[in-house]
Amino acid sequence: MRDIHSFSRPDEAAVTHLNLDLSVDFADHRLVGSATLAIENRGATELVLDTNDLAIGRVFVDSGKEVESHLGEEVKYLGRSLTIPIEPATRAVKIEYASMPGAAAVQWLEPQQTASGKHPFLFTQSQAILARTWVPCQDTPGVRMTYEATIRVPRGLLAVMSAENPTKTKEDGAYHFKMPQPIPSYLLALAVGDLEFRSLGRNSGVYAEKPVIDAAAYELADTQKMIDAAEKLYGPYRWGQYDVLVLPPSFPFGGMENPRLTFATPTILAGDRSLVNLVAHELAHSWSGNLVTNATWNDFWLNEGFTVYFERRIMEAVYGREYSEMLARLGMQDLEEIVNELGPQSRNTHLLLDLKDKDPDDAATKLAYEKGYFFLRLVEETVGRERWDRYLRDYFERNAFRSMTTERFVEDLRANLLSRVPGAEQKIDIEKWISGPGIPPNVPRVKSDAFEKVEEQVGAFQKGAKASSLETKKWSTHEWIHFLRHLPQSLTLAQMEDLDRAFKFSATGNSEILHEWLMQAIAKGYEPAWGPLEKFLQRQGRRKFLKPLYQKLAESEGGLARARRIYEKARPTYHAVSRGTIDNILKWTEQKEH
Ligand code: BES
Ligand code: ZN
Repeated sequence: MRDIHSFSRPDEAAVTHLNLDLSVDFADHRLVGSATLAIENRGATELVLDTNDLAIGRVFVDSGKEVESHLGEEVKYLGRSLTIPIEPATRAVKIEYASMPGAAAVQWLEPQQTASGKHPFLFTQSQAILARTWVPCQDTPGVRMTYEATIRVPRGLLAVMSAENPTKTKEDGAYHFKMPQPIPSYLLALAVGDLEFRSLGRNSGVYAEKPVIDAAAYELADTQKMIDAAEKLYGPYRWGQYDVLVLPPSFPFGGMENPRLTFATPTILAGDRSLVNLVAHELAHSWSGNLVTNATWNDFWLNEGFTVYFERRIMEAVYGREYSEMLARLGMQDLEEIVNELGPQSRNTHLLLDLKDKDPDDAATKLAYEKGYFFLRLVEETVGRERWDRYLRDYFERNAFRSMTTERFVEDLRANLLSRVPGAEQKIDIEKWISGPGIPPNVPRVKSDAFEKVEEQVGAFQKGAKASSLETKKWSTHEWIHFLRHLPQSLTLAQMEDLDRAFKFSATGNSEILHEWLMQAIAKGYEPAWGPLEKFLQRQGRRKFLKPLYQKLAESEGGLARARRIYEKARPTYHAVSRGTIDNILKWTEQKEH
């Protein structure tokens, strides 16, 4: 089966192992060296790889014969194919190359963009199809390879990868890595910086810059508990060590499930461990995604829907049902919002996507996450948790280190679960979920007593109660989010002031609460929040926060000019992934930069 987002033809010759040898050049913003690929050759006379924005040098086959490779025409989003002439007996190719300074996967940070302010920093983000901007490879989730790497970095810096990692800086700056389990290319990852390691338990730990490591270790203290809970649910953790790397604030995502080493935004460091469902999420990918992998980006929901489901089961196991139900309720709100935004009849609201001629990065909407979650929850509630858990555990075992299409999953689900439970198939109505729009009527209901109490307080406030008189004492981050999302449309500026005075929203260090508050502030024209809004947009680059804030600002009165002014300053500090999204919203063109 071919992947529309890759030029490669793995059915003819498939890469099975990668050996990287790269020098990290902070002055020129380049990775320079070679990639040697071992291939399983089914008699092909060409090996086709994906590249995007790579400077390709000499290419050799097997034990050193130089051959002439050929770069194809540039295709929008996909980059250029690299065709290497081989013989049916060819088992390896070596490509000398360098990445370009603007490689979309790679962000080069100046010292002042880091916590210490002293050393440069580098990190990659390969999902969905950006691995090809720093490694020539078969850049499709349908191909798996083991890898090893030698990475040379400036003295004093530590290099880490989605592989077995060092915990200490090496004098000579040459690091060797090994990833013995086969992984798809989108899980290739590298970070280089002045990093420190702290153990968190038997097989878990955290990396961060020195000024952040204490806060990171405190925040992530429950990581080992999560691993233990996850293993109890769906079988052994297959990757040995599980570490989290807390990155500088320009990381464009909340988290990225790079195997053995989750990459995470520092905006989860709230000081009270209230945002650690993100760790549960990335950890859950060690099963759903990294072990059983979406075959193409059209099957993205197999990665993310399963992972949200698994994330909430881990959260339930560690923090209780009431807690995980709050997350599910917020998830339902996200689902309703995204379906509304895409349009309830939109093709983009099917679980099985059609991304032909589209950038798979644009598929990364909340839809796959939350519609996927509610579909799997419906299956759970229909067949019963015990049966479902047994099925899932077995599913991960049977399909470990393989890729999965939506079609094969549905077949498997029918054959090994639904056919054994009378009436289940009818009750679930799989087709409606997979290949139908919107939110099907049999969607599970989520009831949260905690949130009902929050709604009572919103009601009281609406009826005129003072903010300081509201009963908010033991509220968690999630209750505050629910509160902020449910403030009435009719809120006056005086009421905004009252809330801010009582709860100090504009000054909060909790990124999720601040985000919800700033969304309200923009909508209501609450000017005292302009300063904090600008600061928030300047100091972090997480797309999930940037996108709605810039969007809302651009739509508000006089907001577009203000958004552009802020963006002009902040843009150079954002990762290419975030820049791409915000450029679109603000209709920013390259020449505007100068
Ligand atoms: N794998 C995703 C991030 C991703 C998706 C990167 C698509 C590029 C393309 C990661 O696991 C994720 O879902 N992150 C979320 C975390 C959240 C749902 C807890 C994020 O970054 O917000
Ligand atoms: Zn995810």
